[in-house]
Amino acid sequence: MFYYFIRKLLFLIEPEKAHFLTLKYLKIKNINLFNFFYKNRIPSKKIKCMGLTFKNKLGAAAGIDKNGEYINSLSKLGFGFIEVGTVTPLPQIGNPKPRIFRIIPMEGIINSMGFNNLGIDNLINNIKKSNFKGIIGVNIGKNHNTRIEESINDYLICIDKIYCYASYIAINISSPNTINLRNLQYGILFQDLLYKIKKKQKELHKKYLKYVPIAIKISPDLSKKELIYISKKLIKYKIDAVIATNTTLDHSLVSGLKNSFQKGGLSGLPLQKKSTNIISILSKNLKNEIPIIGVGGINSINSAKEKIKSGATLIQIYSGLVYHGPTLVKKIINEI
Ligand SMILES: Cc1cc2nc3c(=O)[nH]c(=O)nc-3n(C[C@H](O)[C@H](O)[C@H](O)COP(=O)(O)O)c2cc1C
Repeated sequence: MFYYFIRKLLFLIEPEKAHFLTLKYLKIKNINLFNFFYKNRIPSKKIKCMGLTFKNKLGAAAGIDKNGEYINSLSKLGFGFIEVGTVTPLPQIGNPKPRIFRIIPMEGIINSMGFNNLGIDNLINNIKKSNFKGIIGVNIGKNHNTRIEESINDYLICIDKIYCYASYIAINISSPNTINLRNLQYGILFQDLLYKIKKKQKELHKKYLKYVPIAIKISPDLSKKELIYISKKLIKYKIDAVIATNTTLDHSLVSGLKNSFQKGGLSGLPLQKKSTNIISILSKNLKNEIPIIGVGGINSINSAKEKIKSGATLIQIYSGLVYHGPTLVKKIINEI
């Protein structure tokens, strides 16, 4: 109830400002206020995935903490893992503001951030500074000015730099807000990407005697045929996991509502069924060979369970936090 009161105030503020205000509050206060809701310790529900041990199945999705500045505060909410990023090799400002819009009646969000971030070197410093001992995934992308044909190099630069600091690395080829990025999900570009990142992983594994799993994050706007193709290639190249899904360009589910016409990727409740369907198709085609991290529209215990029933080993959340607050994390973890 308390969060819904706070939410009323937060929703009076422009969404990007509200996001940073909330995170800063959590950091400054070291979430003392939220400790009020966390009197009962969140149970440890360990689970193995990608060869790593997670404290529980629920993680913070990419985009909440792009620069890894709030790892300690987010970890205190109870998340089993935190995916920071997307970061790019060089810092960049992203798309013009405003670039986050709420679709309140449908618990949706449209964003067109465009990988605003302070770069991979800054993220490494922040990870070094954090004292969180749990799983940190690092989500990486390409710089705006890098041509798509040369973009694989951006991923390789990031993998090289982050390898020693990440528990796993997520390759983001599915953000709709970077021109042509999604082209990396198809044909020769996709195969070339998988081949080169696996080669890099092998080299670094040998060099550091540490295996860091690599996951590929995909879009919810792929057809069944495309998903079957992707599944085959993920198996062929022994990719460690697939994250399904990023935001959708299909705004039909919110048409007519305020902000539905805004440019960008749609997340939250309107994405829920679409991403669950993608997970089901992947699950059938991956045949338990590659784990799925399910994300998209989780806003309740039931929707979290549905993702797991459809084949997700782990799950992540972003928009649900905005609409239901941090207590949702504990509620979900207790029930899954
Ligand atoms: C404002 C905002 C920024 C996001 N930024 C990123 C990002 O940088 N990288 C990424 O892979 N996904 C990003 N996402 C997508 C989320 O990680 C997630 O895949 C998507 O929102 C679906 O989950 P949800 O419905 O729980 O929000 C972003 C989402 C939102 C709402």
